[in-house]
Amino acid sequence: MLERNTNFFPQQLQKLISDSFLYVNEDAYGNDRLFFENAGGSLRLKSAVDAQTQLSSLPDCPERTHDIAMDIRKVIEKGTEDIRLILNAKDGSIATSLTASKLMFEIITTIAMDKSSGNIVTTDIEHPSSYDACQFSAEQYKHELRVAKADPKSGSIPLENILKLIDEETVLVSVILTSNITGAMHDIKGYADAIRLKNPDTIIVVDAVQGAPHGPIDVDEWEIDALNIAPYKMFGNRGVGYAYLSNRIASLPHHRLLATDEDNWNIGSPTPAQFASFSKVIDYICEIGSYFNSSDDRRTLITEGMNRIHLQEQAILNRLINGSNERPGIKDISNVTVHFEEANGIRQDLILALTFDNISCEEAVQLYGEQNILVYARESSSHYSKRILDAVNLDAIVRVSPIHCHTSTDVDKFLEITQKISEIIR
Ligand SMILES: Cc1ncc(COP(=O)(O)O)c(C=O)c1O
Repeated sequence: MLERNTNFFPQQLQKLISDSFLYVNEDAYGNDRLFFENAGGSLRLKSAVDAQTQLSSLPDCPERTHDIAMDIRKVIEKGTEDIRLILNAKDGSIATSLTASKLMFEIITTIAMDKSSGNIVTTDIEHPSSYDACQFSAEQYKHELRVAKADPKSGSIPLENILKLIDEETVLVSVILTSNITGAMHDIKGYADAIRLKNPDTIIVVDAVQGAPHGPIDVDEWEIDALNIAPYKMFGNRGVGYAYLSNRIASLPHHRLLATDEDNWNIGSPTPAQFASFSKVIDYICEIGSYFNSSDDRRTLITEGMNRIHLQEQAILNRLINGSNERPGIKDISNVTVHFEEANGIRQDLILALTFDNISCEEAVQLYGEQNILVYARESSSHYSKRILDAVNLDAIVRVSPIHCHTSTDVDKFLEITQKISEIIR
């Protein structure tokens, strides 16, 4: 198995990164806080928030022809181009909606509606936005719903479990890039190649909401048909989701203002502030890229930046698990179990799924909170978690989700508190 990167960002770059985010070391009330809950919505870039505010202050309608209106149009065009660049979407359409979930429902329903009585393949660790969309569409349009089983050890879906459900009647396959609960990452290119080999007509839909902030995305190379992301999970703001749709699905009959192009998925007035804000996210990723790469090609810098983010996060993960000369890592702290990570190796995202022998997950979250560390318990009492936790034979986990802007000092603080929590006797 490949070794994880252990080198953190150079100090100069680390400082630039830390200074780019809001509330890295304290919360909105000025209290010290380590925000290790980025899978629930990530730390925000100052530039993304500022751009949102600035564009939101303009009353001008972009559909007019005066100077400000024309400039706002450019912001929307640049934002759309930036969405294409981060996804490497060279063809097809870009869709926007209030949430990534809404887009997933639109996409899956549209595909399911186009074919009569076949089957839809999904997995038992999908987020409800895609799983429920598959179930809903299967019921509405008389398809059979087939659910690929997870490997409880890795919290991922083995490719063969998907392939054995695919036949000539398979309308679509929906598979998550990275699980927001287990942190398992799927090799979408490898999966898509194998799915196409089994049935080239099957539409491949990918939920990249959790994966997008942690590594490069390439819909062109992966040759998939649809993929969604959410800026609030990748250093930007809430209130919008984006999706790519390939040429073969973009013009399927779908909700559309009928005077617009057949492949247009945007209904009503766009929000320029969202595009301005997302372009700042892309600028930031390019800034990291340009620290290591002198290219002036924006996609090259995005890929470099996302690869560097991924490497930094692998170094954070490594220190969390294995510790350092300063302190032992989680694997050497008794009473704590790290799930999935060992089975996944370098295919584990920067998400730790922990359970404690001495206390419940709920108690652990409370205790971390008292020590100014924000983490979250995913429990089977929640619709968002139950099916996924059942699939990996767990009842609850403490989800720990830092991002690349965190440092070795932050990791050591987390380990120190984890050690203390693990020693509590009830
Ligand atoms: C993997 C994954 N997919 C989809 C979503 C849906 O995002 P939203 O609720 O913003 O639509 C989430 C949100 O947590 C997610 O983690």
